[in-house]
Amino acid sequence: MSRALAAVTAPARVSAKHQSLLHFVGQAPWSDEALLARVGDLVLPLIERHGPIEAWIGRLLKQGFHHRRASCGATVNDHSNGKSLESELKGQSRTAGLKGVNVPDLHYEHPALAGLYDLDSGWSIDRDFYLGLAAGEPKRILDLGCGTGLLCDAYASFGHQVTGVDPANAMLEVAKTKPYGSHVEWVESSAQLFRSDKRSDLIIMTGNAFQVFLADEDILAVFETMRFHLAQNGQVAFETRNPAIDWPTRWDKDAELTLGEQTIYQSRHVSKRGGDRISFETRFKFPDKELVSFSELRFLSKSEIEEWLLKCGLKPKAVYGGWHGQPSDEANSDDIVFVIEAV
Ligand SMILES: C[S@@+](CC[C@H](N)C(=O)[O-])C[C@H]1O[C@@H](n2cnc3c(N)ncnc32)[C@H](O)[C@@H]1O
Repeated sequence: MSRALAAVTAPARVSAKHQSLLHFVGQAPWSDEALLARVGDLVLPLIERHGPIEAWIGRLLKQGFHHRRASCGATVNDHSNGKSLESELKGQSRTAGLKGVNVPDLHYEHPALAGLYDLDSGWSIDRDFYLGLAAGEPKRILDLGCGTGLLCDAYASFGHQVTGVDPANAMLEVAKTKPYGSHVEWVESSAQLFRSDKRSDLIIMTGNAFQVFLADEDILAVFETMRFHLAQNGQVAFETRNPAIDWPTRWDKDAELTLGEQTIYQSRHVSKRGGDRISFETRFKFPDKELVSFSELRFLSKSEIEEWLLKCGLKPKAVYGGWHGQPSDEANSDDIVFVIEAV
């Protein structure tokens, strides 16, 4: 709903503006339900003045990371009970000093859009790479930002012990339907707040999920989560898009997705590029409705990420420029692929 507020207060900067509105809402000592109902009454008629929309009111997360200092350390307590810290905090009253966590984009949170994810982002060469990292003996694997669980499912089919973590319930619901879905432990949590007493031989974060972390504090918190759960001699792997590539030119495009009898028209439009961020909106036209998802991603360079990793007690074992293990070329590689170990 903060996006709806943002649409009225700063229509050109919805994605950025909604973050600050989240903070405003998150600190307020009133009932979320009552507030959302009232905001809906006031704001929806204004937004709908140009035509009907489907309003999707996401959960408000009252906890966040902005209290963290900008270096790694044990600022999150170890909740060694297999539950995420996020689910722990949900039951507590306003947690002192904690503000809003980044809420996943609509295309991960909305069931109709999560149901389209695999059509556009199915099995691909990057997934072969990650699957290859688990070759050999059965391993304990943690997938942070697992989405619809394609990799979790594949790992589980090879007998690995797998935990898939994602804050988007709709993505997890799709993941659970995968053939080996019942063999995987699914946890609804942000990667920053996830804590378990299990340690993992392999921790992955795939599909450029790393780029959803916009604030320095979030990146540090994610690396902290990785280091915390890494077993001795274990490794972490993730990739990010190379900021040297002209992504906006590649991204402004349309696609047609077919789901059963339905054709869904998807169009993506880059709305802003500034500093190391790119904002874009993705429009999904269903036969009976239109949904628009607003996104913002952060693009960090290889050396910037290496610096953050070292601060967090992690160091790259290898950095590749693609999925065949080719060396990273800072000017031309599309992807920067990190394979990491504890210092
Ligand atoms: C591009 S999808 C990648 C999904 C999956 N890893 C894949 O390779 O297909 C990004 C995922 O990051 C998740 N995400 C968003 N915010 C997150 C957070 N704070 N912690 C962990 N995952 C997050 C989204 O819900 C979404 O499932």
